[in-house]
Amino acid sequence: MKGLAPLIRGILGTFGFSWLGLILIPNYQIGHLDPQMDEEATDVYPLPRSGMAERGRHVYVANGCAYCHSQQVYQSATVCEVRLTEAGTNQPALVSALLQLRPGVSEVEAKQWLTQLPKTVLQGVKIEAADAVVKSLRVGDAKAELWIVPVGPDIERGWGKRRTVAEDFLYDYPVMLGALRIGPDLANVGERRPDANWHLRHLYAPRLEVENSAMPPYRFLFETHRIERAPSPDALMLPASLAPPPGYEIVPKPEAKALVGYLASLRADAPLFVAPLTVPPLPPAETNAPAAAAGTTNASPASPPPK
Ligand code: HEC
Repeated sequence: MKGLAPLIRGILGTFGFSWLGLILIPNYQIGHLDPQMDEEATDVYPLPRSGMAERGRHVYVANGCAYCHSQQVYQSATVCEVRLTEAGTNQPALVSALLQLRPGVSEVEAKQWLTQLPKTVLQGVKIEAADAVVKSLRVGDAKAELWIVPVGPDIERGWGKRRTVAEDFLYDYPVMLGALRIGPDLANVGERRPDANWHLRHLYAPRLEVENSAMPPYRFLFETHRIERAPSPDALMLPASLAPPPGYEIVPKPEAKALVGYLASLRADAPLFVAPLTVPPLPPAETNAPAAAAGTTNASPASPPPK
């Protein structure tokens, strides 16, 4: 039995090594994360889910939604773009700076850009290059901004704005990462589909909302009621083929409402230190200023960057 000691050592080493790599090191790296907050601790991400959304998360788990839906957006890279926001006082110098930056662009075009601010003048560059360009465009009080834009196939599909990171799940246990994508990723579905009625009808009969949907209907999350004095405000509006008999209505059970509350809470769009992105500035808060004055500052920040 000469080989027994090395064998045991080998077995222990193998298990010890995987324990180290799969449990101890990941726990050290992401096991003690705190929510991210700004200096005044007013802007905190993530916040715990509301009671309703938290109940809905259990419905999500119990119904196996994660068998077909992932909640993890991939991002292959971060690129930067440069937006010119103010033309400043020395426009000829700015135009020549722009022409130097984009040799393919004609002078007429560059001048036209100055009338269409804010204007994306450069896309898809690394942060150092974008930083240098921002500096080079600061002629005569002109202002340029550097925007951080995550890119990748999931982001192109509109499934999220940035990659999913561990912080996104701080309050979730178990985490519904999902491995199969029979349906779309739901990490950011609350922003993509804010309409609760859409979700209810989709859960009741997916094909009502999406042609030839392969998602199974979840009718047991709804019940048929006799209409008492007046129809319930929750009653589903269904086409004749699915409508209940006259005098009856179909209303969501509390589980369905909680599930939709959970779907609405799925938003992973906050910029984080570990996954930065530039979000369009919020439209100005409502003030007592006359409407026209408030409108002028809202220069369509959400418009997609021009090609
Ligand atoms: C058998 C696989 C399957 C299961 C299980 C499943 N889905 Fe789906 N789901 C799909 C498919 C396929 C689509 C795309 C077609 C569509 O929108 O109906 C989809 C679409 C969706 C959408 C719309 C997403 C979007 O971006 O348009 C939501 C929301 C959704 N599912 C929620 C759920 C919830 C909640 C559950 C659990 C109660 C669930 N799904 C279970 C397959 C599934």
